[in-house]
Amino acid sequence: MKTIKNFIKKYFSSFAYFYGYLSHRIFVMLFLSILIGVLDGLGLIMFLPLLQMTDGVSNHTADNLGGMGFIISTLEGVGLELNIRIALLLMFLFFILKGIISFYSLRYNVKIQQIFISSLRFKLTDLFTKYSYKHFVSADVGRIQNAFTAEISRVGIAYKGYLDSIQNLILVVVYTTFVFLIDWKFGLLVCVGGAGTSFLFRLFFKKTEQKSNEFTHSANTYTGAAMEYIYNFKYLKATGYLQAYASKLKKKISVVEGNNRQIGFLGAAVTAIKEPLAVGVVCLVVLLQVELIGGGVASILISLLFFYRALSSLMSFQNSYNDFLSVSGSLKNIITIEKELLENSDQKGIHIFNSFKDRISFKNVDYGYKESNGILKNLNIEILKNQTIAFVGESGSGKTTLVNLISGLLQANKGEVNIDGISFEELDFSSYQSKIGYIAQEPVIFNDSIFNNVTLWSEPTPENIDKFQDALKKASLLSFIERLPDKGETLLGNSGVNLSGGQKQRVSIARELFKDIDILILDEATSALDSETEKEIQVNIDEIKGRYTILIIAHRLSTIKNVDKIYLMDNGQIVGEGSFDDLINSNLRFKRMVELQDV
Ligand SMILES: Nc1ncnc2c1ncn2[C@@H]1O[C@H](COP(=O)(O)OP(=O)(O)OP(=O)(O)O)[C@@H](O)[C@H]1O
Ligand SMILES: [Mg+2]
Repeated sequence: MKTIKNFIKKYFSSFAYFYGYLSHRIFVMLFLSILIGVLDGLGLIMFLPLLQMTDGVSNHTADNLGGMGFIISTLEGVGLELNIRIALLLMFLFFILKGIISFYSLRYNVKIQQIFISSLRFKLTDLFTKYSYKHFVSADVGRIQNAFTAEISRVGIAYKGYLDSIQNLILVVVYTTFVFLIDWKFGLLVCVGGAGTSFLFRLFFKKTEQKSNEFTHSANTYTGAAMEYIYNFKYLKATGYLQAYASKLKKKISVVEGNNRQIGFLGAAVTAIKEPLAVGVVCLVVLLQVELIGGGVASILISLLFFYRALSSLMSFQNSYNDFLSVSGSLKNIITIEKELLENSDQKGIHIFNSFKDRISFKNVDYGYKESNGILKNLNIEILKNQTIAFVGESGSGKTTLVNLISGLLQANKGEVNIDGISFEELDFSSYQSKIGYIAQEPVIFNDSIFNNVTLWSEPTPENIDKFQDALKKASLLSFIERLPDKGETLLGNSGVNLSGGQKQRVSIARELFKDIDILILDEATSALDSETEKEIQVNIDEIKGRYTILIIAHRLSTIKNVDKIYLMDNGQIVGEGSFDDLINSNLRFKRMVELQDV
């Protein structure tokens, strides 16, 4: 009883999930299946009069058809005397109709499968766009990556297996109904036979489902590890660790493939036992029918035909349900990921941000990645429009975290952050963030041309080309790019492998200057530059100073001599603020830092 309940729960929760994406289309599809089953049944029924007439045994055809006798009576009612020609013609017509509807039904299946997969992909993409940064940093990236690629395809297979299984189940019902109508005693035998085979298949189902869950889990860890292997290629190669990592990866591959093999073996067994089992059950039922129940040869034959059809559909149902189960782990995984992305999405604030007008203020702000461990403590900060502000402090003191709060990537646990009097709790972050330029510790380079890297795929209109040139000039990139044979069309390769560290940073500075921003954040932006280039960038930043609100996180204090205000951070707190000269005079810690760096 419990297993039946579980089966129904599982079967229908998947149905509800697919229905969520496809709505009425699923029912159209099911209706077409019923139609196909009925047409097939009607065609087959025509065998009975044929058998009897060629046999010359009986002309009481309607009686032998049992509950289906009404078909003959109806035909006779409209003046059609059933003879061999008419029976053959009708049979032919039924099967032609069935063929036509099968064609449309299969085409429809392809269409809605495609609709399902693309809506699922769109939905995941949209949900990921809204995913909060706080949850992203602690998420299992391998799992997300795997969900976007391999798992979605496997959900496509799950969908197909599931719908095939429903269609087959419908056929089972239709054929069994035919059998019942012809001879209810035979119908009962069909049910008993069907139940017997289901019992056997259940054993396979259980194992397949378990293996499918294991497969998904192992594929997720493998994807994560493979990504790290690729991203850290340079380091692993330079240090001779590539081999060691490769053997770790190979072990994971063996686990994934081991699971895959077992799922395949189970599938093979289910497919192979299908036919002998069906024939075995049929033989047994015929024996029972002949020995115990009796009846005309023709009606036994026709019932058998239906019985065989019903049983094959049942087996096909079991086969496709097994296909569904073999990828059900992926379906479960995708459903969970959808839920996680939705639950951890960014707020949709009511205040759309147009432009930065006055100031950003922090009042008694606390932040911790987990509520219990405070990383930032009681921060009070005031950033005025078009000021240049620097954050300095030891590694781990919380500078990047603070800047992430300013850019709205993270939200304060306590206290208030507001911009122009609008609380961050009510701010629409996507409009706000479109006004922020961010140059991170690791410059972001896309595998595309310099033009596309700077303009992020803007149309190359004369206006954009001018803006592009201007951004290159401000980022001290113009002369370097003019020397390249393909100029702005030069391809940058994977993660910008054919650029120096300093050049990569200048490309990302150019990108931010191309964008129409109000606030520019530089997190260690000049750390990889030689002192010559650093000076050049310094001059350029000084040049844009006062035109944007610039927030600089700097380890090299020489670069922040001219800023309007410096916040000195230590262990998540502000321990000093003021101009460079103010701080040197008033803050011993800052004075020592400056002396150490020999600024
Ligand atoms: N995703 C995270 N989960 C938990 N703790 C984190 C996370 N990211 C950073 N931290 C912790 O927050 C603290 C501040 O980190 P943060 O990156 O802000 O320092 P930082 O001042 O920018 O350092 P650096 O100069 O080295 O870049 C550190 O103690 C770090 O361990
Ligand atoms: Mg940092």
